[in-house]
Amino acid sequence: MIPKSLKFNNNLEIPIIGLGTFNSPPGQVTQAVKDAIDAGYRHIDCAWYYGNEAEVGEGISTKIKEGVVKREDLFITSKLWSNYHEKEKVVPMLKDSLKNLKLEYLDLYLIHWPFGFKEEAGPWPTEGGPDAYSETEITETWEGMEETYDLGLTRSIGVSNFNKTQIEKILGMARIKPVCNQVEVNPNFNNKKLIEYCKGKDIVVAGYCPLGRIDSYGKPRIPKPTILEPEVAEIGKKYNKTPAQVVLNYLITKLGVVVLPKSVTKSRIIENFDIFDFQLDKEDIEYIDSFHKNVRVCLAPYFGNHKDYPFHDEY
Ligand SMILES: NC(=O)c1ccc[n+]([C@@H]2O[C@H](COP(=O)([O-])OP(=O)(O)OC[C@H]3O[C@@H](n4cnc5c(N)ncnc54)[C@H](OP(=O)(O)O)[C@@H]3O)[C@@H](O)[C@H]2O)c1
Repeated sequence: MIPKSLKFNNNLEIPIIGLGTFNSPPGQVTQAVKDAIDAGYRHIDCAWYYGNEAEVGEGISTKIKEGVVKREDLFITSKLWSNYHEKEKVVPMLKDSLKNLKLEYLDLYLIHWPFGFKEEAGPWPTEGGPDAYSETEITETWEGMEETYDLGLTRSIGVSNFNKTQIEKILGMARIKPVCNQVEVNPNFNNKKLIEYCKGKDIVVAGYCPLGRIDSYGKPRIPKPTILEPEVAEIGKKYNKTPAQVVLNYLITKLGVVVLPKSVTKSRIIENFDIFDFQLDKEDIEYIDSFHKNVRVCLAPYFGNHKDYPFHDEY
């Protein structure tokens, strides 16, 4: 049986498939959200940094107004951007996301990245060097996250792109435990050690770039997305499924993670949700397992000299 949701350590359920919205053009994302809700999605993965929350919110409020869903049927995530890691900035930033999304509360609020930037440095200061970095400790940011929860602005709080040591730091001081770590998970980078560690701490892993961010293929360093491998298409034929459906099913059933496929294409949005009616054979799972190369799509290498850069550690 393929689970429809996973349970957080605070008993809230997170739907197993969420629509990704990074790089979804504002002019297309409203329709994508509406198509997703019509297709059965109840989980949308957003972020202040994506610059399209207002248009995502349009899609959500249209479907609520049409009576297709109620707010409480939906699971909406947003994320705190790195320019705002100081404790007193966290609540105002969450409120800004709520205003954009036209919502009164979130279901999950995440620290988007462990590394912080000075507010004036701009959102992605690749040229700025250490002068652009904020010294704020992730533990201070976490206190701000706890305040958002206390105020009822979000039903749960978590982190994204945190490594084991960074999670340990949070667990060592948290009044409210993180429920989720959102990190890269796809067959080329299966992140198994971090997933196992998180499971041991009762933290759900949500996997981003589940399809290997196919639109980045061809850029230096980016491995060939598994959905382009002819062998995966062959596996799909056995089950009458597409390569994307095979990969998403594998990530949920074998690795036990939530998946966040992004698409603004109606047929793909429908396709990526139609994965609950088949079970991969052991040999096919083992074959997809063999694609692991330990190479990330999302490396953010420019910030490798930041004190909180997460990817120097093994996991
Ligand atoms: N926390 C973080 O730091 C972080 C980092 C990265 C991503 N994320 C989240 O995770 C989501 C997913 O990651 P991602 O957007 O980087 O990559 P992804 O979901 O792996 O790949 C998206 C790409 O795959 C295409 N696609 C979607 N379904 C397809 C299908 N069935 N067959 C073929 N191609 C398909 C999309 O094209 P079309 O849209 O043109 O259909 C798009 O080009 C993001 O949108 C975001 O919400 C979070």
